[in-house]
Amino acid sequence: MRRLDQLLANLGYCSRREARDYLKKNSVTVRGAPVRDPSSKARAADVLINGEPLDHPDGLLLVLNKPLGLVCSHDEREGPRVYDLLPERWRARNPQVTSIGRLDKDTAGLILLTDQTELVHKYTSPKHKVPKLYRATTDRDLCPDLIPLFAAGTLVLDGEDAPCAPADLRLDPASPRTADLILTEGKYHQVRRMFAATGATVLTLHRVRFGNLTLGDLPPGQFRPVAESEI
Ligand code: URA
Repeated sequence: MRRLDQLLANLGYCSRREARDYLKKNSVTVRGAPVRDPSSKARAADVLINGEPLDHPDGLLLVLNKPLGLVCSHDEREGPRVYDLLPERWRARNPQVTSIGRLDKDTAGLILLTDQTELVHKYTSPKHKVPKLYRATTDRDLCPDLIPLFAAGTLVLDGEDAPCAPADLRLDPASPRTADLILTEGKYHQVRRMFAATGATVLTLHRVRFGNLTLGDLPPGQFRPVAESEI
């Protein structure tokens, strides 16, 4: 059981201060009985607002097809943010919706967003080793020697002490400057830096897969809720 004002504020309907007014202006019921007192307690599953159940009361987990040019930071000074794509009520949630790991401004593709702090920790922890598949194009033809180099788990990036974990590189037989790279960790700008360590510059980068999740036919800029069991 939680206080109604807290529940409404956490789910982004209104601030705690606005809850009294919100309850006046909207038909809020708990197990069918109208409620006006913001301090009354309820189970989220028993609450209806204007006849509708609460919006994802147990937390959000979204897969977004990140377009180029958006940042995963919350800092507006860094440019337009992936969170700006979300409905206002989701942007007002507390805990706030945040990305699980980050993609660079110049990287597109699959990113997970959640307001469940424990999922952020779980899937960004080096212990977890979720495979992430990236498709990269580069400024030069890629040599098959890179496959054992990336697989060896010995490549040390500029400014790092520990080597990169073994990574699975698959060259595209139809396009010598295109490759898929599967990483199980997420060092800063890792794909770009791994290729840079071999003299190649990544020109385009797209994340195709996170664990078992793919984007399917989700267009850039669109998102959909997913269950954790899908990862
Ligand atoms: N590696 C990068 O270089 N950039 C990303 O956004 C993700 C992985």
